Amino acid sequence: MKRIIVGITGASGSAYFLRVMEALSRQELEIHLIASEQGRKVLAYETGAVLEEKARLWGGGRAAIVLEDNENMFSPVASGSFRCDAMVILPCSMSTVAEIACGITKTLLTRAADVMIKERRRLVLVPRETPLSTVHLRRMAELSELGVTILPAMPGFYGHPQTLDEIVGFVAGKVLDSLEIENDCYQRWEGNHEK
Ligand SMILES: Cc1cc2nc3c(=O)[nH]c(=O)nc-3n(C[C@H](O)[C@H](O)[C@H](O)COP(=O)(O)O)c2cc1C
Repeated sequence: MKRIIVGITGASGSAYFLRVMEALSRQELEIHLIASEQGRKVLAYETGAVLEEKARLWGGGRAAIVLEDNENMFSPVASGSFRCDAMVILPCSMSTVAEIACGITKTLLTRAADVMIKERRRLVLVPRETPLSTVHLRRMAELSELGVTILPAMPGFYGHPQTLDEIVGFVAGKVLDSLEIENDCYQRWEGNHEK
């Protein structure tokens, strides 16, 4: 069974996290969930969702869900010997981007991301901030040079979305594509031959 680590931090856009988790929980996967303290707070503030309750709900799907303690450095995901196919952090705050880029690993979330980089495994970050400072851009460029996928929460509008759900689905679908997970979260561009 494929193993995926999904992290959530205190950037805006927790709806993207919920949408990706809904899709992942329907697949045969082992999912390790890690939330920063601020990630839980912003999730509750923006969506009213409580992570424990959501994790219980997702656990009723096909996926096996493990809700990790961000303070527990004894978790298997803190080690490179734990085989893991991919990790995504969404939304990813600029603070967490900077910590990962600088190799600061004082939490399970940043340690797990650091392990993905050292083991040269797939790591996808979904940053959300605007405007971006030179500090933000430099840290993201450093991570990109290390092979990390920087997938900003930037929905496209060429599919003529009519609802917020479609806009969220666009970013969620792009995230799932980059994790190589089949999904129908968004309408794929099929060209426009009339031009
Ligand atoms: C409602 C709210 C929205 C926020 N949105 C963002 C954001 O979009 N991007 C960001 O980098 N930080 C944002 N922040 C600030 C982060 O939560 C803050 O930097 C925090 O220290 C991040 O910690 P974490 O990375 O451990 O979750 C927001 C804070 C709040 C309260």
